Amino acid sequence: MRHSFLAAGVLSGALVLACSGQAQVRKGNPSVKMQPYGKMPDGTAIDLYTLTNTSGMQAGIITYGGAVVSLTAPDKSGKFGDVVLGMDTLDGYRQEPNYFGALIGRYGNRIGHATFKLEGKTYTLPKNDHDNTLHGGTQGFDKRVWKARELGTAFGPAVELTFVSKDGEEGFPGTLTAKVVYTLTDANELKIEYSATTDKPTVLNLTNHSYFNLAGAGVGNNLEHRVTILADHFTPVDEGLIPTGEIKPVKGTPFDFTKPTAIGARINQDDPQLKFGKGYDHNWVLNKRNGVMGKAAEVYEPTSGRVMEVLTTEPGLQFYTGNFLDGSVKGKGGVAYPFRAAFCMETQHYPDSPNQPKFPSTELKPGQTYHTTTIYKFSTR
Ligand code: BGC
Repeated sequence: MRHSFLAAGVLSGALVLACSGQAQVRKGNPSVKMQPYGKMPDGTAIDLYTLTNTSGMQAGIITYGGAVVSLTAPDKSGKFGDVVLGMDTLDGYRQEPNYFGALIGRYGNRIGHATFKLEGKTYTLPKNDHDNTLHGGTQGFDKRVWKARELGTAFGPAVELTFVSKDGEEGFPGTLTAKVVYTLTDANELKIEYSATTDKPTVLNLTNHSYFNLAGAGVGNNLEHRVTILADHFTPVDEGLIPTGEIKPVKGTPFDFTKPTAIGARINQDDPQLKFGKGYDHNWVLNKRNGVMGKAAEVYEPTSGRVMEVLTTEPGLQFYTGNFLDGSVKGKGGVAYPFRAAFCMETQHYPDSPNQPKFPSTELKPGQTYHTTTIYKFSTR
C-alpha cells in the first residue's frame, strides 16, 4: 500500500523550490509505504512503515518494538547511506540483545536494585541487569507489538504507534497508554514525539535506542566521530551503572564534550567512571531547560561529512558508545558489528530517578499527559 499525501505545507514548499529554478529539484513526493515485515510466534503480523521525505531521505520503522530499522542520510557528495545499525529480519530483532533502534519503556535506562517507592508503596521489578532493572524489564516496550497508523503532517510523512501497557506489567503500576509519532521532516529531521497517560500514579521515561554510525552502519567503529554535548555536568555512576546522586562538573574530565572532541580521544584514559562503563555509558545533565526544546548534542563524521544534531525537550542525554557490542551480532547484510561500532544518544530523564529525590521527577499521575519530543537532524559539512 503506497499513499502519497499532499499536505498543504509540503506542497507549497515543493513549489517554491520548483519555481526558484534551483538545482536541488525535489526528488519526489513525500510518502508513507506500509509492507509486511514478518510474523510473531503467535501469528501477529509485524509491518514495516517506510517514510520518504522530499529530499529522498528514508526512515524504516517496524511495529515490533517501534524500532527504527533504517535511516538514510546524504553524505557530503549527496550519496545516501544507512546510518543506523540493525538486523535484516524480525527474528534477528527478536534475538539480538542490544535494543537496536527500539523504543524503550516503561523506564529507559536503569532502576537501582529493581525497586522503587511511589506514594508510600514499594514496587518490585524484574532484575535483568545484575541487581537492577534495565530498559523497562525483561519484556520492555522494545519487545512489544505496537499498533500503527499512517499520518500525513504539514512537516513530512509520519507514522503514529500506540501501545497500551497493562497495570502491573513488568511490575509498574497503572495502565499506561503510550503514543509515539515518528515524522521524517523535509528539513531532514527524524522527529520523535512521545506522549502517554495513566490511570494510576506511575513512573516513566521513554526514549529511542538507535545506534548511529555516520560513516554508515557497519563501517568501522565510532572513534573518529567528533562529539559535542551541551552539558557542563554529568551524573557519575557506581559499578552497576546506577547514578550515585551526585551532579558533577565535566570540566577537567574525559566527560567534557563542550567542545567538539573525537570519541576515541580520551575513551581509554585511566578513569574510574570510564572503567565502570567500559567507555562512555553515562547521563549528561543538559544545559538547556527541562521541558523546553533545545540543542543537546552535535556529532560530525569527517570522512562522510555527515552531521547529526540532537534537539530535545528532555533534561538528560545517555551517551553510550556501544561498549557491549563485541562482534558476535551479525547485523544488516550479515556484517558483524564490532566493539564500539556505533553510538547511542538516548534523550531521557536521568537513570534511577524514582529513587533519586534530587533528580527531575519521572512521575505521571492520572489526568496528566506526558509529552516529550526529540529531533535527530541531518546535514553535511
Ligand atoms: C545502557 C547500556 C546498555 C545498553 C543496551 C544503554 O542505554 O546505558 O549500559 O548496555 O543500553 O544495549
